[in-house]
Amino acid sequence: MVVLAALQVSISLNKVELSVGESKFFICTAIGEPVRLEWYNPQGERIVQSKRMALHTETSRSRLIIYNAIIEDAGIYRCQATDVSGHTVEASVVLEIYQRLTFRDVQSPQEFRHGETAEVVCDVISSPVPVVVWYYQDKEITEDHHSRFQVLANNNLQIHQVTKADEGVYRCEASVEARGEIDFVDIAMVVNVPPVLSVFQQSFNATADYQESVTFTCITSGSPDPVVTWHRKAQQLEPSDKYILNRLEGGRSMLTIRNIRQADGGTYSCKATNKAGSQERELFLKVFVQPHITQLRNVTAVEGSAAMISCVAEGEPLPDISWRRASDGQSFMDGDKSRDGRFEVRGRHGKSVLTISGVRLTDLGRFDCEAQSRIGGHQKSMFLDIEYIPKFLTNHTIYYSWEGNPVNISCDVMSNPPATILWRRERFTISEGTPNMHIHSADGKSVLEVTPMSDRDFGRYNCTARNNIGVRYQDFILAQAGECAPFLLVS
Ligand SMILES: *[C@@H]1O[C@H](CO)[C@@H](O)[C@H](O)[C@H]1NC(C)=O
Ligand SMILES: *[C@@H]1O[C@H](CO)[C@@H](O)[C@H](O)[C@H]1NC(C)=O
Ligand SMILES: *[C@@H]1O[C@H](CO)[C@@H](O)[C@H](O)[C@H]1NC(C)=O
Ligand SMILES: *[C@@H]1O[C@H](CO)[C@@H](O)[C@H](O)[C@H]1NC(C)=O
Ligand SMILES: *[C@@H]1O[C@H](CO)[C@@H](O)[C@H](O)[C@H]1NC(C)=O
Repeated sequence: MVVLAALQVSISLNKVELSVGESKFFICTAIGEPVRLEWYNPQGERIVQSKRMALHTETSRSRLIIYNAIIEDAGIYRCQATDVSGHTVEASVVLEIYQRLTFRDVQSPQEFRHGETAEVVCDVISSPVPVVVWYYQDKEITEDHHSRFQVLANNNLQIHQVTKADEGVYRCEASVEARGEIDFVDIAMVVNVPPVLSVFQQSFNATADYQESVTFTCITSGSPDPVVTWHRKAQQLEPSDKYILNRLEGGRSMLTIRNIRQADGGTYSCKATNKAGSQERELFLKVFVQPHITQLRNVTAVEGSAAMISCVAEGEPLPDISWRRASDGQSFMDGDKSRDGRFEVRGRHGKSVLTISGVRLTDLGRFDCEAQSRIGGHQKSMFLDIEYIPKFLTNHTIYYSWEGNPVNISCDVMSNPPATILWRRERFTISEGTPNMHIHSADGKSVLEVTPMSDRDFGRYNCTARNNIGVRYQDFILAQAGECAPFLLVS
C-alpha cells in the first residue's frame, strides 16, 4: 500500500494590487500527488483558458496569467487541488484592481469664442477619485482670486465671458494621495474673436464710360485673422480685368472696380469670416451716365397733316429733353405749346415728342433735340421734310402761233416728291413721236414744243402732274394768231 503524502497547495502571492491594464501571473504549487489542479474566479466559476486569462498547468504546478486587467477582474481567486481519493485543498489570492491616474484624450489647444462661457476640459480618472488643481501662469486658480473662474465637479475649468486676455496655457494637475500619484497636462486655451468690419466710406459716385475706377475699402479685426471676400448680386467676385482685390496691413481689404460702366452701379458687400463667425457690410456705387440721344429720325410729313417727331435719350440721371427750331431758333420745352397752338411738346422718362399739327411748307427744315442733365448734355439734329400735291407755278395758259410757227408751252410744277408730268390732247397722251410735237423735260418743268400744221393743232392742251400725294392738271390754250389775237387783245 502506497502511503500518500498529505496534499498541500500554495500560491506564490496572497494579495496583489494591480492597476487597470496591467498584467500579472500567479503560480499555484501543490505538494502531494494531485490529480487535478484548477483555478476558480471570484464568481466561483472554474477558469478556462480565454483571451485575457491563460493557464499553464503541469502535474503539481499551475500558472494563471491575467492580461490587461479590468476593474471587474477584482476579487478572490482560488486554486484547488484534488487527489485520487477526491479530497481537495485550496489556496487563494486576493486581487485588488485600481485605476491609475489617467488623462483621457485631453485636447490641446481648446478653442472658444469671445464672450461665451468656456469649459476647458480635463478628463482625468483614477480610483480613488483624483484631486484636481488648475494653474495659470504658475499660479493656482482659486475662486477667491479669479471671480470668473470655477473648477467644476467634473474637474473641468469654467471661465465666464472668456476674453482674448484669458488666452494661454492652463495646467490641469491631478493627484491621488493614497498612492502619492500625481500628474498634469498643459492645455493651450485659444479665444477666437468674431470679425468686426468697418468702412471709411460707404457710398461712391462715378461716371460711366470715362475709364474711371473706384476703390472700396473694408477694415477688419478678429481672431484668427478673418478672410475677406467681396460679393455682388449673391456672387463672389474673383480677380479679373474688372475687379482687383487687395489685402493690406492693418486688416485693410480693397476692391477696385475698373472701367466703370452703367451696369456696375448698385450694391456690393465685403464679408469677413473666421472660425468664430462672419460679418458683412454693404457698399454702394452710384454710376452717372452722360446724356445720350439714342433715337431721333428724319421725318417726312404731308402738308396739312400732323407730324410727330420723337427724341429718346438715356443717361443717369435721366436727362430733360428740349427742342429747337433751326429756322428761327425758337425753343420748345416739355409741356410747351406755341402761340398758334400748332407746336406742342410732351415728354416723359427720357422720351419727348414734338407734335406739329397742320404742317406747313414753312415748317420744313432742321430741328435740334437737346438732352440735358446735371452732368452734361447731348444734341442731335433731324430734318423735317414736307410732301405735298403738285402745284402749278404759272398762270400763263394762253399761247399764240400760226401754221408752221413752233411755240413752247411751258408747264412749271413745284412738288415733293417730284411729279411726273404728262401732256394730253383730248383723250390722247402726247409722246415723243407724236407728229409736230416735242417734249423738253427739266426739273419741275415740262416744255411742249408744238409746230401747228393745221387748224386741228390749235385748241386745249392738258398738263397733268402726279406724285404719290396726288394729281393736278392745268389746261393751256394754243390760239391762232391773226385770227384771235387781235380779237383777244381788243377785248
Ligand atoms: C454722389 O452724388 C450725390 C448726388 O449728386 C451727392 O449727393 C453725393 O454727395 C455724392 N457722393 C459722393 C461720395 O461724392
Ligand atoms: C436727314 O436729312 C438730312 C437732310 O436731308 C440728311 O443730310 C441726313 O443724312 C438725313 N439723316 C438720315 C438719318 O437719314
Ligand atoms: C397769275 O400770276 C400772277 C403772278 O404770278 C399773280 O399775281 C396772279 O394772281 C395770278 N393769277 C391767277 C388768276 O392765279
Ligand atoms: C423751245 O425750248 C427748247 C428747249 O428749251 C429750245 O431748244 C427750242 O429752241 C425752243 N423753241 C422755241 C420755238 O422757242
Ligand atoms: C386733263 O386730264 C385730267 C386727267 O387726265 C382730266 O381729269 C381732266 O379732265 C383733263 N382736263 C381737261 C380740260 O380735259
